[in-house]
Amino acid sequence: MRDFGFGFRKLRGQRIRTEWLCKRRCGCYNLDRTCALPSNSRSQLLNEPRIMERFAGLLMFPLFFVIVACFLVVSACSLGGDELICTVESQGLECSSQQTNKLLIQGGIVVNADFQQQADVYIEHGIIKLVAPNLKAVDGVRVIDATGKFVMPGGIDPHTHLAMPFMGQETCDDYFSGQAAALAGGTTMHIDFALPVDGNLAAGYQAWMKKAEESCMDYGFHMAISKWNDDVAKDMDWLVKEKGINSFKFFMAYKGSLMVSDEEIIQGFKKCKELGAVPQVHAENGDAVEEGQNRMIQLGITGPEGHSLSRPSMLEGEATGRAIRLAKFVNTPLYVVHVMSIDALDEISRARHSGQRVIGEPVASGLALDDSKTWDPDFKIAAQYIMSPPLRPAGHKEALQAALSSGILQLVATDHAPFNSTQKALGKHDFRVIPNGVNGIEERMHIVWDTMVVMTSLHPFHNSGKISPMDYVRVTSAACAKIFNIYPRKGAVLPGSDADIIILNPNATTTISAKTHHSRIDTNVYEGWIMKGNIEVTVSQGNVVWEKGTLNVHRGKGRYVYMKPFSYLFDGLDKLDATYLTSLRAPVHRAA
Ligand code: URP
Ligand code: ZN
Ligand code: ZN
Repeated sequence: MRDFGFGFRKLRGQRIRTEWLCKRRCGCYNLDRTCALPSNSRSQLLNEPRIMERFAGLLMFPLFFVIVACFLVVSACSLGGDELICTVESQGLECSSQQTNKLLIQGGIVVNADFQQQADVYIEHGIIKLVAPNLKAVDGVRVIDATGKFVMPGGIDPHTHLAMPFMGQETCDDYFSGQAAALAGGTTMHIDFALPVDGNLAAGYQAWMKKAEESCMDYGFHMAISKWNDDVAKDMDWLVKEKGINSFKFFMAYKGSLMVSDEEIIQGFKKCKELGAVPQVHAENGDAVEEGQNRMIQLGITGPEGHSLSRPSMLEGEATGRAIRLAKFVNTPLYVVHVMSIDALDEISRARHSGQRVIGEPVASGLALDDSKTWDPDFKIAAQYIMSPPLRPAGHKEALQAALSSGILQLVATDHAPFNSTQKALGKHDFRVIPNGVNGIEERMHIVWDTMVVMTSLHPFHNSGKISPMDYVRVTSAACAKIFNIYPRKGAVLPGSDADIIILNPNATTTISAKTHHSRIDTNVYEGWIMKGNIEVTVSQGNVVWEKGTLNVHRGKGRYVYMKPFSYLFDGLDKLDATYLTSLRAPVHRAA
């Protein structure tokens, strides 16, 4: 059996062959140690339906053996990793314990959003316990040498779509494959967009919870609002107060499916403000997009290039400006997702200059790519790059990069919405039915490092040196954690924070290819890119899950992260409301 591993696990003092048992029965997943497969078979392995695995496993072994195996597996998996006993000393401070999951990352440069220092990081039971120079490990502590490397918070991707039904298809990464890919690329948490089921938010939440049973890393949800009525308002209450959702997305595009009217947006924004939840917008004028699409079809433009031609950046700018003004009218903060153009950027910039609380989120693809590939004569290549709002002509991405470095835009997402080439092929004769979305959950951390931080001439299209490593932490994790109210549990390497950490080697390189990536998508919009910087280690919940090019992740290990309402974005809004009321100088009391 190709995916049987024969690693040993220490269980109550005995070395036992258990890894294959973990994979079969607990969902433990250890690609390189347990598979004698060539590396380009990784995504194939991820694609195997689990039901077939189980069926094959049952055929292989007598019933008695299976029962014994189940017992061993439950015990082995409950260990949660190699058993390590350690003691760490720091300037007279001694931490010692006889329990599992202890790790010391030594000799690196620890980078937070506001401070960096040469320090070691000591982790116990998934929590960072100490960050200080010269920590000493004794008694067999698991030590990772990070000399000459950056030790930073794991990435938080604020915008993903795993197993999302969309445009008649479902994104081809589920919670397991998408998160495995994320961890291989240094992202340790993501916030996924749950969609209502037939307009019902509670049903949408339950459906996404079910999908997330497969998860292997921490995650949270945003919820989309696709219509407005009392039930929606009640469900928003429930989701915020009881279910840990503190943001709602309003689609101003996708007419006929997810798009909402200005009236619905205003009601939704008001409710968000009352609940302390962040309203988010997909800002494109959906009515005008429909008109643009009809125009392209009438002109005989049916191929992928028709996509960006039909929805030019002015339509993104218009919707962004409208959403900003409606948010100002309601006096609520606003979060604009996937900012793709100068037009949208200018609206955000103006609003922020006037003191309005507007957050702008560029995505890795918008920062690194332009729309040129959508003119490729090969449909398969061109269709890979179709997303909404579309990739823009040259010039926009440079402006987005500059806005990110100057603080006009705040944090980087992916909008990971992968559709494989057979799914994209459905739109071969009509760009309007090409499922919209590109990959990125695995590449974001490297793309941002290479595009924004390093000085390199490795890739001719890359201008870098635009932000510092501390800014890198801010835009890839800390800002997101603050906006969604989970800082400093997430987004920081500080005592008490979750041990979600990456070790990035600035002197190594990373090559991207669909042949080696871990997502299920069979293409990659960054195919062949060689980037400076390599995330060599990912630690998630205190466990080393990515090391030496090997993933070691466990189905069902992911935790749902509750996000409380009223993040810093809401501080002082009541004062602004009061100022507004005073400014009205009304009602005027007139004599009868
Ligand atoms: O093309 C995209 N962005 N697909 C995902 C859905 C969305 O609009 O975020
Ligand atoms: Zn969107
Ligand atoms: Zn999206």
